[in-house]
Amino acid sequence: MSIDVVQNQTEINAVLGEFKRDRDSLIPVLQSIQGRLGYLPPEVISAVAEHLGLSESTVYSVASFYTQFKFKPSGKNIIKVCRGTACHVGGGERILAELERQLGIKPGETTPDLQFTLDTVACIGACALSPVVTVNENIHGRAVVSKILEAVAQKKGVAVCQCP
Ligand code: FES
Repeated sequence: MSIDVVQNQTEINAVLGEFKRDRDSLIPVLQSIQGRLGYLPPEVISAVAEHLGLSESTVYSVASFYTQFKFKPSGKNIIKVCRGTACHVGGGERILAELERQLGIKPGETTPDLQFTLDTVACIGACALSPVVTVNENIHGRAVVSKILEAVAQKKGVAVCQCP
């Protein structure tokens, strides 16, 4: 058993110990485990199913139904490009294409070094700043997006496209 699996199991057991063996706890349990690990590794399904007296297929069905649950680890930096109308008009698609090129991944994917996860988001209500990109919890508008592209390119060792 690898160190990661042992560490994950320790975290999973700690979370399960905080919840009663109650089927209604399924979503809070999954949220809590994801809060600790950043995603739901495969061993979560059987451990949660056993603890709550549910079938593994039930746990997996619920976890896979909600987009909040991730089955792969996310990158240290989660970059989301807004695909709302104002941001689309403002050049969001070109920014997304440039980030895809720099990072070598598509939306929903994470770089192999786990440094970046790229994703898209619907309008986040900051249309006046369009095009908008979020990095982790921070919202960045037009003025900062070029700096984000430069920073990512520098980190990945690729040239910055001047197109967006
Ligand atoms: S369309 Fe992007 S923030 Fe509204």
